Amino acid sequence: MIESPPATRLAPSAKAPALMIGRLQLKNWRNFLQADLQCGERVFLVGPNASGKSNLLDALRFLRDIVKDGGGLQYAITGNRKGLSSLRCLAARRAPTIEIEVELVHEPGGPLVWRYELGIDQRKTEPKKPAIIFERVWRGETLILNRPDAKDRADPIRLTQTHLEQLNSNADFREIADFLGTIEYSHLVPQLIRHAREYSGPGIPDDPYGRDFLRTLASLSEKKRRSRLKKIENALVKAVPQLSKLDFSIDEKEGGVPHLQVVYRHWRPRGARQREYDLSDGTLRLIGLFWALLEKGGPLLLEEPELSLHPAIIRRLAGLMSCLQHKSGRQIFVSTHSPDLLSDHGIGGGETFILEPAREGTQVKKASELAEVRALLEAGFSVGEAVMPKTDPPDLHQLTFDDLLKP
Ligand SMILES: Nc1ncnc2c1ncn2[C@@H]1O[C@H](COP(=O)(O)OP(=O)(O)OP(=O)(O)O)[C@@H](O)[C@H]1O
Ligand SMILES: [Mg+2]
Repeated sequence: MIESPPATRLAPSAKAPALMIGRLQLKNWRNFLQADLQCGERVFLVGPNASGKSNLLDALRFLRDIVKDGGGLQYAITGNRKGLSSLRCLAARRAPTIEIEVELVHEPGGPLVWRYELGIDQRKTEPKKPAIIFERVWRGETLILNRPDAKDRADPIRLTQTHLEQLNSNADFREIADFLGTIEYSHLVPQLIRHAREYSGPGIPDDPYGRDFLRTLASLSEKKRRSRLKKIENALVKAVPQLSKLDFSIDEKEGGVPHLQVVYRHWRPRGARQREYDLSDGTLRLIGLFWALLEKGGPLLLEEPELSLHPAIIRRLAGLMSCLQHKSGRQIFVSTHSPDLLSDHGIGGGETFILEPAREGTQVKKASELAEVRALLEAGFSVGEAVMPKTDPPDLHQLTFDDLLKP
C-alpha cells in the first residue's frame, strides 16, 4: 500500500472550485519503482532521453482512460496499452502490484479533497485478466470505498472493473471520475495536421497527435472558432514574421474538407494565402499549442512544447502558459528538454522534477530539494541553467563520431 501523507484537513464542500492534482504517487509503474510528486499549477519534467517523462504523463492518461466513455480498466491496460507486463516496472524483483495514487485539491498545497488509490495485478485464475488488488477512495480524511469488499470476495470477477469507471458504483465520488476525464494529452505532429487525409483509418483515441485537429475545429460553433482563432492570430503575428491573418475555411469543392488558412504579407497587395499543408512545422505547432492553452478544462499534458520553435519564442512559453492558466484554470504538466523554456525566472525549483535513470528504476527528485540546485537558484540562475546540466547523460562526453563508424 502507498503510505498515507501527513493528516490533512477536509476541504469545505460548498460550491466547490475546480480540482487539480496535488500529488501523484506511483509504484512499479513502467520505469519507476517508486515516484512521488507534489504538484502545483505547473509541473515541469526534465531528464535524459528514456528517463520516463512520457511514462509519467502516461500514468495520468491511464487514469483518464479508465473513466472516459468507452474506457475502463481493461481498456486502459490492454485496449490502449500492451498489457500489464508492459506496465509493470522491469526493475521490480518479483511481480509486485502496480500502484497509482492521486490526491486532488482545490489549490496547490491546499487541503486534501479526494484521494484515489488503485493497485492492479493479473488474476491467477481464469479468466486471467488484470484485476484490482485494492481500490480506495478517501473524501478528505474519510475512507469511503475500500475494495475488495464482501461482494468482491463473493464474486471476484467484479475486481476486473474499477468502481471509478461504473456509474452505478461511483455515485459518491463521481467528481473524481469527472475530473480525471478532463485530462488532455497533446503532442501535435505537424505532418498529421497537414496530411490528415493521407493518414486515414480509425486513428488514435482522443487524437493526441492532432490528426483530427481541423475536423475538431470544424465541429465547433462558428462564433467559438472565430473568437479563438482571432486570439491565436493576435499572438501568431508577433511570433511568425510576415504572417498577418489566420482563418478557417471549408472547401466545398473538395466535399467539405476543413482548412486553416494563413495570409503572409507580401509584395502582392493582398498578400499570399497558404493552407495548412504549406505552413511551417513551428507555425502549426504554435497554433495547436495556443489552442490547447486557451481551452478551458482539466489538466493539460504537454509533450516537449518547444519542438520546432525558435528559442526566442520558447523563452516566452512558460510566461504565456502562466497568463493563460489564470483564464483557463488548467493545470499544466510539461515534459521538456529545453533550457530556453526553463530560462523564465518565474519558474521555481519546486515546480521542476528531475528524472534520473538508475539500476533500480528512474528516481524522481524535486529540483528545489537538491542543495546544489537551490544554491544556484538563490544565486540568480534560472531553472534551465541550474537544472538542465544535471540531466546530461553521464557518458555523453565520451561520445565521438568513432562510435558510429566502429563495426
Ligand atoms: N515496464 C517498464 N519497465 C521498465 N522500463 C520501461 C517500462 N516500460 C517502458 N520502459 C522504458 O521507458 C523508457 C521510455 O520512457 P519515456 O518514453 O517515458 O522516456 P522520455 O523521458 O519521455 O524520453 P524522451 O525524452 O526520449 O521522450 C524506455 O527506455 C523503455 O524501455
Ligand atoms: Mg518522451
